[in-house]
Amino acid sequence: HGHAWIAPTSTDSRSPCPGLNTLANHGYLPRSGKNITVPEILDAALGLCLTLLINSHSNNILKEAFNLNFDTVLLAAKLGLLAVNDDPSSSQMMTLESLKLHDLIEHDASISRNDFATGDNLHFNETAFSTLANANPGKDYYDPVSAGGVQRDRLAHSIATNPNVTNSHKEITIRSRESAFYLGIFGNPATGVAPKKFVQTFFREERLPIEEGWVKSKTLITAAVLAPLEAMIFNASDWTQSQECEVIVAGN
Ligand code: HEM
Ligand code: MG
Repeated sequence: HGHAWIAPTSTDSRSPCPGLNTLANHGYLPRSGKNITVPEILDAALGLCLTLLINSHSNNILKEAFNLNFDTVLLAAKLGLLAVNDDPSSSQMMTLESLKLHDLIEHDASISRNDFATGDNLHFNETAFSTLANANPGKDYYDPVSAGGVQRDRLAHSIATNPNVTNSHKEITIRSRESAFYLGIFGNPATGVAPKKFVQTFFREERLPIEEGWVKSKTLITAAVLAPLEAMIFNASDWTQSQECEVIVAGN
């Protein structure tokens, strides 16, 4: 089957994003995660970037895999283009790994990766993930309150251990969306109640938890659907900024 899960080989390129890696592991994106040249981006390959703006290809990928609307990834897709490397002849011009570029989309206080300044900001790390793994004790699901607590605790850990931590409105905006993704995609997008088993499989194996019983949402998950979850997650995260950021200027 074209969309069976196959673990990446040592030469396949993967990103700091469990969502994109899952799409590659299931063959929705090139399994190599590489050889994504600018013409291919324009054509179809990375799909989740510029093609969003040009045709419906990646829109179909996101819907097929997650029933996710393209507007939920539009900002990440636009920012992701800035990760393209400078050598236009290179087959490495855009790889999934290109997205590890710190402070573009990649940020500190991730749920499942270490901070750039103090560790590996690319690969899944079980110790980093233990905050989420152990969240909402006594329950078999995560929800927006537990997700907000994870955000709070991961940020507190980064502030305590990383003298170079970046924590501005930009990061909290991106982080809230990412937490809403795992709740909304693997749980009920209206309430954000998500079975732990599904969420943990997604992060640990970068696999759709189909054999665990997950089915994709019956309702299309749009940015408007995720917005209330993001607000609840944000409120529960008890957030204060460490520094100002420049407002992100982007076309609309
Ligand atoms: C994290 C890029 C789509 C779920 C990230 C990160 C990047 C990224 C660079 C690393 C941020 C960090 O934690 O430091 C993108 C791009 C996308 C995209 C360019 C599409 C154009 C998705 C989708 C999903 C998703 C469709 C859901 C299935 C997540 C989650 C994290 C994340 C949950 C947080 C990981 C963590 O904190 O450890 N994404 N992403 N992303 N992404 Fe994506
Ligand atoms: Mg990170």
